[in-house]
Amino acid sequence: MIAQPLTPVDEEAVVRAVHGPGGIGISPAFNWPEAALRPEARFQPGWGVWEGPRLAAFLFWRENGGEFEISVLATHPEFRRRGAMRLLLQRVIDAHSQKIWRLEVHEDNAAAIALYRQLGFQKIARRARYYRDGGAALLMERAPGAREPG
Ligand SMILES: CC(C)(COP(=O)(O)OP(=O)(O)OC[C@H]1O[C@@H](n2cnc3c(N)ncnc32)[C@H](O)[C@@H]1OP(=O)(O)O)[C@@H](O)C(=O)NCCC(=O)NCCS
Repeated sequence: MIAQPLTPVDEEAVVRAVHGPGGIGISPAFNWPEAALRPEARFQPGWGVWEGPRLAAFLFWRENGGEFEISVLATHPEFRRRGAMRLLLQRVIDAHSQKIWRLEVHEDNAAAIALYRQLGFQKIARRARYYRDGGAALLMERAPGAREPG
């Protein structure tokens, strides 16, 4: 697995990973139709993990006033549970580890929440009825220099 920055050239690979056959798809916890995904891939900073020519995992973030917010992240189903997303998150956070990192996650998304906690994110707020299935969002934040919880 190779982790490296994504460029606008990788837009089609990102769209394929989500909307191609056997791809990540859309769910209440991951609601990224193509029209919303393309601008992320084109304009926001991001990193990807490649398995040969295939994009196994990707994430994009935004920087606002020195704070970083992860807007979208996902691993293709064929490549899950191999450490791809941990590797990606670790790489981008390490590059800006003295900044505040934030993200939102569906409160039923146990896999993602477990991963974020490993990387030092903690819940700071809960937004009821945030997702289209009525589920709540957890707003999670990683303080500058935070370590993995014991
Ligand atoms: C959440 C997601 C990104 C994890 O990606 P991944 O590449 O499979 O994650 P990793 O292999 O790096 O896993 C790292 C850790 O996360 C946790 N984790 C990942 N998948 C898990 C699962 N299915 N169940 C429980 N814990 C899980 C584990 O703690 C894991 O460490 P371990 O394998 O040593 O136990 C992936 O499941 C996904 O793309 N889900 C759909 C999209 C999504 O929910 N995006 C997040 C929106 S906020």
